[in-house]
Amino acid sequence: TNRTFTMIKPDAVANGHIGSIVNDITKAGFKIIALKYTKLSAEKAGEFYAVHKERPFYNDLVSFMSSGPIVAAILEKDNAIEEFRNLIGATNPAEAAEGTIRQKYAKSIDANAIHGSDSDENAQIEGDFFFSADERF
Ligand code: GTP
Ligand code: MG
Repeated sequence: TNRTFTMIKPDAVANGHIGSIVNDITKAGFKIIALKYTKLSAEKAGEFYAVHKERPFYNDLVSFMSSGPIVAAILEKDNAIEEFRNLIGATNPAEAAEGTIRQKYAKSIDANAIHGSDSDENAQIEGDFFFSADERF
């Protein structure tokens, strides 16, 4: 499809980067379909990241993602998954290309400013996790 799902993570929210990141996203040609300022409980964060539950950093990831408010959004653009992952850059901000969101706003691999879906199937699942049909425009 032409949609992806994103979260501005607790570090980027706490550091005052919501406005800059939303600006970068819209300037890159993504249309906002749904948008929400909210906070994940530890239980909800664990559910969202269930695919990573066997990985060594799972507990740290869940506690970080429930440590403060986040911004969730569904975004639309042609080739949205790949284009958005190019915009945010590598998982480790130290390896993220110049001008990418993680290079500009993230400090470490565990607090890396932003999430982007990795497949059409996961974008659908993740968007449905946060948004009902009447919250999409
Ligand atoms: P997301 O867009 O957040 O899904 O990131 P990603 O797709 O670039 O990475 P991946 O799905 O493999 O990992 C999910 C999240 O787990 C990452 O964004 C990191 O915040 C965290 N993570 C990944 N690898 C490590 C690691 O080696 N150590 C720690 N502490 N966290 C990690
Ligand atoms: Mg991922």
